[in-house]
Amino acid sequence: MSPQDREIGLAIIRSFDSKPKMLIQLLHGFVDKFGFVSDEAIRLIAEELNLSRADVHGVVSYYHDFRTEKPGRHIVKICQAEACQAMGSRELTEHAQQRLGVELHKHSEAVSLEPVYCLGNCACAPAMMIDGKTWGRVSSDRFDALIAAELDT
Ligand code: FES
Repeated sequence: MSPQDREIGLAIIRSFDSKPKMLIQLLHGFVDKFGFVSDEAIRLIAEELNLSRADVHGVVSYYHDFRTEKPGRHIVKICQAEACQAMGSRELTEHAQQRLGVELHKHSEAVSLEPVYCLGNCACAPAMMIDGKTWGRVSSDRFDALIAAELDT
């Protein structure tokens, strides 16, 4: 973590008055700013909130949204919840892994491939999200077309 990033991290922590009960909110602040919560960030947060690193790490590892590695330039999420599974999200995920060359939960420089559990788009299953934009009825062909249109890969 650069000195500048450390200052930004401290500002995020202090914007929540360095209160341990605000841990989730300030972790979201780190993800919004940096895209992930690094080991250095966990150390900084633990120091500032007077918590153990294990306490902070436990919360980070519990929630899917708190990545611990720098993500790809684009975030692709495929719904793995029940309605989407019934409509082929497992097959879509297999296809996505092949097309992107990235396993689920992993990332390349260009893209992170992540599971998500319901995008509120169940009527149009299977659903996916690219950089925060939701798409429905995603077949393999539609996936390829969306990736070509939305990503610079
Ligand atoms: S189950 Fe996939 S969008 Fe709801």
